Amino acid sequence: MEADLRNLDVTGHKVIVRVDFNVPLDASFRVTDDTRIRGAIPTIKYLVDKGARVILLSHFERPLKSLLPNGEIDRVKFTLNHVVPSLSGLLGKKVDFFPDTIGDEVMRKVESLQNGDVLLLENTRFYAGEEKGDHDFAKQLAALGEFYVNDAFGAAHRAHASTSVIAENFDKKHKAFGFLMKSELDNAKQVLENPKRPFIAILGGAKVSDKILLIESLLDKADKIIIGGGMAYTFIRAQGGHTGKSLVEEDKLDLAIDLLKKAGKLGKTIELPSDSIAADRFAADAQFKNVPSHEIPDGWMGLDIGLTARFEYAAHLKGAGTILWNGPMGVFEMESFSHGTKAIAQAVADVTKTGTFSLIGGGDSVAAIHQSGLADSVSFISTGGGAMLELLEGKTLPGVAAILS
Ligand code: 3PG
Ligand code: MG
Repeated sequence: MEADLRNLDVTGHKVIVRVDFNVPLDASFRVTDDTRIRGAIPTIKYLVDKGARVILLSHFERPLKSLLPNGEIDRVKFTLNHVVPSLSGLLGKKVDFFPDTIGDEVMRKVESLQNGDVLLLENTRFYAGEEKGDHDFAKQLAALGEFYVNDAFGAAHRAHASTSVIAENFDKKHKAFGFLMKSELDNAKQVLENPKRPFIAILGGAKVSDKILLIESLLDKADKIIIGGGMAYTFIRAQGGHTGKSLVEEDKLDLAIDLLKKAGKLGKTIELPSDSIAADRFAADAQFKNVPSHEIPDGWMGLDIGLTARFEYAAHLKGAGTILWNGPMGVFEMESFSHGTKAIAQAVADVTKTGTFSLIGGGDSVAAIHQSGLADSVSFISTGGGAMLELLEGKTLPGVAAILS
């Protein structure tokens, strides 16, 4: 296989591994969802077992966009040191941390590594050159090791110094995809290039405008698209429905009609929720009732798919060969409006048991699957939100292209 980590002769050598440890933390800086760290463990373990000297690079949040009042970086809040306990625990081995990313001291630290050691360097985004994709900064990062492995799928859509530009300093014998990256790409490929049919896409989230390219790409590839979440109401209004105070993107009504027409021409269907849970306010303790989605009363807003829609959507999923799910069916962070998303999560898990291949991509639907306790009941959960979205839209990810070129 091209760019296969197993083809690199890494024993005794310094290997830079770009991971995506941009993970959620609680108020005491403890990791609350370690999925991305877990995802990187097979690559790190493999390198440790091979006797490589592992140098981990990652970004964490956007520190340069949240500077302290004195204009300095908040090194307490944004240090990657926060992930070390979780990482060491999952790896079953002490990981060393160094509070900088480039420079002489870092180089000395790197030179002191023994075979099988793992060192995590500080947040790459403490340097402006990271997000700018600066070639000099990338070169300084590249000087840390003899090999470059990209396992940061979650950041593969960023053309940043450590995710993409750095790779120009390594020839094909010295760079590769990590195992997480490889598995993300293989799973997306299975859905996009060789789906078992019927292929049903479930799309949710607040806005149509975020999903236009995805819908267009899926109209070509999927057999049916099921819509939920706030974006449904732009379609319903476009069809002449009464949507009350529901979120509607007025400037996307024509686009919604075009997408429905395009689907018709291609002989595909875009399913909209026949009913909705409408609320009198956008609040967790709002009053709510189940109403037809085309007849949402004045002053009320659709915040979840309704009881009939859940039943109908679950029926559509039965017998699917492939399911791709991106985006929640309602405001699932509010208990009252989480049940549509949970019902779909359950339906996806149920059909997966009967042989359907199910890929869950996109941050919120992934969170919903975890909350429902069904993470082990679907075929593949992506660690990338934006990255998976762009991949499914048919884009080439800079982090991927850089390894292959
Ligand atoms: C993410 O969490 O989306 C990735 O880690 C990329 O981070 P970014 O959106 O801040 O570039
Ligand atoms: Mg992000």
